This record gives sequence, structure tokens and C-alpha cells, in this order.
Amino acid sequence: MTTPQFTPRVFSGIQPSGGLTLGNYLGAIKRFVQMQEEGMETVYCMVDLHAVTVWQDPADLAKNTRELAAGFIASGISPEKSILINQSQVPEHAQLGWVFSCVARMGWMQRMTQFKDKAGKNAQNVSLGLFGYPALMAADILIYHATHVPVGEDQKQHLELTRDIATKFNHDYGVDFFPITEPVIEGAATRVMSLRDGSKKMSKSDPSDASRINMTDGADTIAKKIRKAKTDPDALPSEAAGLQDRPEARNLVNIYAALSEQSVDAVLADVGGQQFGAFKPQLAELAVSKLSPISNEMARLMADPGEIDRILAKGAVQAREITAPILAKTYEIMGMVR
Ligand code: TYM
Repeated sequence: MTTPQFTPRVFSGIQPSGGLTLGNYLGAIKRFVQMQEEGMETVYCMVDLHAVTVWQDPADLAKNTRELAAGFIASGISPEKSILINQSQVPEHAQLGWVFSCVARMGWMQRMTQFKDKAGKNAQNVSLGLFGYPALMAADILIYHATHVPVGEDQKQHLELTRDIATKFNHDYGVDFFPITEPVIEGAATRVMSLRDGSKKMSKSDPSDASRINMTDGADTIAKKIRKAKTDPDALPSEAAGLQDRPEARNLVNIYAALSEQSVDAVLADVGGQQFGAFKPQLAELAVSKLSPISNEMARLMADPGEIDRILAKGAVQAREITAPILAKTYEIMGMVR
């Protein structure tokens, strides 16, 4: 339950550690735009400090940050309606991140499955930042007293940790200062899967480019990737229950449902009984019709990086009006002499 005294505020972030994928778009950005249009106060962030938990080439980081900003705007995030920032320009994120490193417990962090997946057998050799990452993520959210965080399914555990950190801080200092944030994980595409392997998440870090649709892919590339997407030999079922043990089929139908803003059952009422040879071209056409305007607009915006930088600078000023007082109050609660 959200503590009632907190006014609704939405925060979410995406790492500028590579290009945007269809997974980011359907699982996150599309929802960001809807929440902006619902009239809530919305803050959206390029989390560059998170990206450097693994080494980033400086020129690529700068380019990816601007391209991500262009992706947000091209998808419908309006800098007039939402605060759009890159994390490193709002220093209170990192400052509260340190405080939360002192609140979170080692045992909590060691349970984070995303760290285990990312570090793999290499756990002794990854950065300390990669391990501490979820404490900074909690700070991103709570430095705004955000009450709602739209994300894909893979971020669920990090949001539970955010709630644990808020609860422990409030308890340790005997205050009701940080809200207990609600994850918003909704829709048909909260977990878009790889086009090559229905058991793996679609990800910008997958070595196979054919496994994902990038927001910058052209129409031919999108159509080719969908045509080659792994499927099974059966026809599509007429009801969602028929997709249960068919991860690849389920993924393509989920993508169709999310792009066309219909329920899975509504899609299957139309396409049930079809073979993939008939369904895939329809999916490709739908994907191209939804994504091409976004990638064209991204290219247009990227032609003027100065304008993107001005938008992010303005966002940082607006953001700090919220974050500076919350950090000051946090320090006061903790007994830091001001
Ligand atoms: P990141 O950059 O990996 O992903 C950004 C958003 O996209 C969603 N997403 C997906 N959704 C559905 N299917 C997929 N295949 C898929 N891949 C990615 C993610 O769930 C996410 O919502 N830790 C975060 C960034 C972050 C953040 C935050 C998010 C930092 N601070 C504060 C929310 C609030 C991350 O690495 O997301």
C-alpha cells in the first residue's frame, strides 16, 4: 500500500548502455507515455551512472544517452509534460545511493538474481558498483518520493528491494519519510522474449542481433527478423490457454497484442487457426507501422544533439527542485550537521 500522504509521482529509468529494443519500448516506454498522459507527475531518466557499472566507451555512452533521450521523445515523452533527465546531472541520486548502501544489507543484495545472472562465474572480477547497483536504483526512485514505477517484469525484485530499503530507513530513524513504492508491471508485454529462444529475455546485450528488434532497425530488417523468428510447427490457438507450453508462439502473440493495444484473447479470436507463414507478415507489417515513425523521428532529433542537451539540462534543473530538499531532509533525519 502506498502511504497516503505522498502525492502520486511516477519515476522510471533506462540504461544508456546500448540501443533501445522492442522489449524496452513495450515493457517500459509505451507505459511511460500512458502514465504521462494520465496526468500524473512523471520523471524519466537515462541512468548513465548505472550504465558504467560495466565499462562503457565514453563516446558511445554520450551517443547512447542522447539516442535514448531521442527515443523517449520520439515515442511520445514530452519535455513539457514530463521531467526528462540523465542521472549524472542530478547529483542527489548518487548521494542518496550512498546512504542506501548503508541501509541495504549484504544478504539482501546477494539474493539479487540479476546480479547473479550478469556476474555469472566472473563474480570476483565485476565492479563493486554492479553489486551495489540496486541501492542506487532505490535512490533513483526514492529521491523523488516516487509512488509508482513502471517497469518490465525483470525489475520486480529490484523494486521489492526498494520497498525493503524504504521500510528499513523509516523504521531505523522512526520516521514515515520514504514512500513504499508500487511497481507497475502491466500489459501483454512485460517480458518480451528473444526471437531466437523463447526462454530468454529480449536484451540489448544478447550477442545475436537477430534475437531482438532494435528501435533503429529499418522496415526490411524488422520484417526479416520476424520472418526468421523461431516458432513451432502448429497453427495458432484460438484462446490464450493454448499458448501455455509454446513460449515462442506466446511471445509473438504478446508482441502483436501489445503493439495493437488489444488483449491476447482478442488477437487470438482474429488469428486463431492461422499458420505462422500467414501470421508473421501481419506482425511484421504492424511492427513496421508502429516503429518506423519512432525511428524516423529519432533520426531527426539526433541530427540536433545540442537541442537534446538543452532538454536534459532543463530537466536537471526541474528535477533538483524536487531532489535537493528531499536529500537535505534525509541528511537532517540522519543527524548530518548542515
Ligand atoms: P534496463 O535498462 O535493462 O531496461 C529498461 C526498462 O525496459 C524493461 N525491459 C523489458 N521489458 C519487457 N521485455 C523485455 N525484454 C525487456 N527488457 C527490458 C525493463 O524492465 C526496464 O523497465 N535497473 C533498470 C534501470 C533503472 C531503473 C531505475 C528502473 C535504474 N534505476 C529506477 C526503474 C526505476 C534497468 O537496468 O533497466
